[in-house]
Amino acid sequence: MSRFRDPQDAAFQALNSSIGFDYRLAPYDIEGSIAHARMLAASAIISAEDLDVLESGLAAVRAEIDSDTFAVAPGDEDIHMAIERRLIEIVGPVGGKLHTARSRNDQVATDVAMFVRAHTLRARDQVLELMRTLVDVAEAHLDWSMPGYTHLQRAQPVYLSHHLLAHFWRFRRDLQRFNFCMTATDDLPLGAGALAGVNFDTARMSVAQDLGFAGIAENSMDAVSNRDFVLDFLSAASTCATHLSQLGAEVVLWSSEEFGFCEPSDAFASGSSLMPQKKNPDAAELLRAKAPRVVAHLTALHGVLHGLPLTYNKDLQEDKEHLFDAVDTLDLSLEAATGMLRGLTFDRERLAAAAGDQFLAATDVADLLVRRGMPFRESHGVVAGLVRTAIERGMTLSELTRQDLAELAPQLDDEYYEVLASSSWLESKVSEGGTSLPRVREQMAQARHLIAEAAD
Ligand code: ARG
Repeated sequence: MSRFRDPQDAAFQALNSSIGFDYRLAPYDIEGSIAHARMLAASAIISAEDLDVLESGLAAVRAEIDSDTFAVAPGDEDIHMAIERRLIEIVGPVGGKLHTARSRNDQVATDVAMFVRAHTLRARDQVLELMRTLVDVAEAHLDWSMPGYTHLQRAQPVYLSHHLLAHFWRFRRDLQRFNFCMTATDDLPLGAGALAGVNFDTARMSVAQDLGFAGIAENSMDAVSNRDFVLDFLSAASTCATHLSQLGAEVVLWSSEEFGFCEPSDAFASGSSLMPQKKNPDAAELLRAKAPRVVAHLTALHGVLHGLPLTYNKDLQEDKEHLFDAVDTLDLSLEAATGMLRGLTFDRERLAAAAGDQFLAATDVADLLVRRGMPFRESHGVVAGLVRTAIERGMTLSELTRQDLAELAPQLDDEYYEVLASSSWLESKVSEGGTSLPRVREQMAQARHLIAEAAD
């Protein structure tokens, strides 16, 4: 019997059905069902014989899903109904006992939480591998100097290792955000029923333990409506994808003829169908372009959730495609970013030549005056005057004569030429977190320590 007299309209069916995408939840759905059935038997809600039948039936369904032989029937609205339908086909009416003391509402929330947990673990591993790669590549280019930029204008020289490690710390924060996603999926929704709890004295904590949840959701209404953990994952994924896009953007710039700082490996570049000479940094460009797609999924889910009344609303079905596409996009991006980084070849001479631009020592000259007691604001002005004169005459700073110095900056002596001649502008950055080699070495040791700690 059904409550309905008339069949569903085809357009409504297409709109309402989620089987086209939520089949990805099947392994979690089956795992959750086995834990639920065990709890039902342990709580004497079903018999031990019923449990045997349900367990072997669910194992048979799982085998079909694993071997890709599971056939979706026309009436299967979603993966939960499809699995139950198939279970009953295989084991008979006892299969209908599985849905005792649960609802699709707590069931789907549980499946999605398990999915988020599994993919958070995968994202963590991939982020860690990327962090490892950044440290390795930094170590291999420890004392290669290059210009550091602000406003994409050459600002002060840094070591390439220091620049690469700057990316490391971004991904380390991403790792922390993914760690939080694990906490966000700690509470088991299953057992909340449709919204109010169920008419049986179930043992939810035992289900939680079986499924690897730390505890149970304390409020049945919150349990079935909570999708915060999806927002949390999408948020962590968005920030991580944005970091990947920033990394990609730099590789695009650096591998241009104009910069000439690095070249991608053949494995991460493509040619042009028209121009035989070209080698395009496509991987880096696509990293740059994928991020907004992940961010769009986060924004979309906020849109789905905002203003929803408690508790379950069919709107919540719209969490999945956003989540799934974000998971896949991030997975691929992290994999490609790590491979691309490992394959980069840097051009030491080009980097050093760009870093040798004497104007990058302007701050060091200003600090020379500061050491002689001049307030920094004044020394900034004095050196700005020197820079301006040099630019107007088409000279470098060290080409200014003693005569020029006597007129423009009488406080400066021979040490001015020494500062400009030495390549010590990097080694003078001795402050904690600065680019001098001892500081970069310290930083690298700390980075390796954090990786080892996180990998434990
Ligand atoms: N396919 C549904 C979803 O993804 C499962 C829950 C259906 N619940 C319901 N009350 N119609 O949200």
